[in-house]
Amino acid sequence: MIELIKKVVDKLLIANSVVVFTGAGVSAESGIPTFRDKDGLWQKLKPEELANFNAFLRNPDLVTEWYSHRRKIMHEVKPNSGHYAIAELEKYFERFAVITQNIDNLHRRAGSKNLFELHGNIERNYCIKCKKQYDLGDIYPDKAIYCECGGLIRPDVVWFGEMLPEDQFEGAVKAAKTCDVCFSVGTSAVVFPAAYIPIYAKQSGAFLVEINQNQTDLSQMADVVLQGKSGEILPIIVEEFKKRKNQELKRN
Ligand code: OAD
Repeated sequence: MIELIKKVVDKLLIANSVVVFTGAGVSAESGIPTFRDKDGLWQKLKPEELANFNAFLRNPDLVTEWYSHRRKIMHEVKPNSGHYAIAELEKYFERFAVITQNIDNLHRRAGSKNLFELHGNIERNYCIKCKKQYDLGDIYPDKAIYCECGGLIRPDVVWFGEMLPEDQFEGAVKAAKTCDVCFSVGTSAVVFPAAYIPIYAKQSGAFLVEINQNQTDLSQMADVVLQGKSGEILPIIVEEFKKRKNQELKRN
């Protein structure tokens, strides 16, 4: 493993631009369940009953309660060493982007600055009629809530069948197509169009590094596969990178 990490660090030391593409696995060590693992959310619940617009219209009380429950969990947990390592690495690059499928806000809480949130953010809500934005803070409604205009208030997350926020996806694609090193961390990389990000990076010539506990559809395409927990592997990469960077600075 350490030899592979050194190979990744070699690439980082000559990189101008870095992309870190993340999925639910990066937050697993914070205590947030993933979607498709053995104990994942979609093993217990059907996405089509909760994570789509028609389900919301059919049963706004249930969907509102479900997102309140998830937001409460996300408030109670903390970013883990993987999130912090990513935020630390950003400080060394002028062009660095975190492109996440997660809605949990943990990258921002860990200090990541240049962030593209492809599937929205559970902290934001808006009225489906007049689009007014709502920040519910520490209020966790257990049934549907309504805007002053009478419209239903929904979480600002992407549901199945919905388009990704255009500005976020366009910015992410641009970063992916121009990066030198791309990490794909804790994602099964099966939900498109988000899963195009590491593919675009690789097709545009980037060095692709996968960090995952398991093999994925992307593993074959990756230049280096680091199998294990992102909260353990990412801090080692960043420490090794900082050590080598300091040695370089001393030499020059
Ligand atoms: P998945 O649940 O599909 O995949 C999680 C991945 O993380 C798996 O490949 C695991 O092997 C890996 N993993 C788990 N724990 C890990 C750890 N500690 N370190 C490293 N890897 C770990 O989640 P996503 O790929 O994020 O979309 O799913 C993508 C999208 O599907 C989500 O954004 C969501 C979901 O349906 C929407 O809701 C629109």
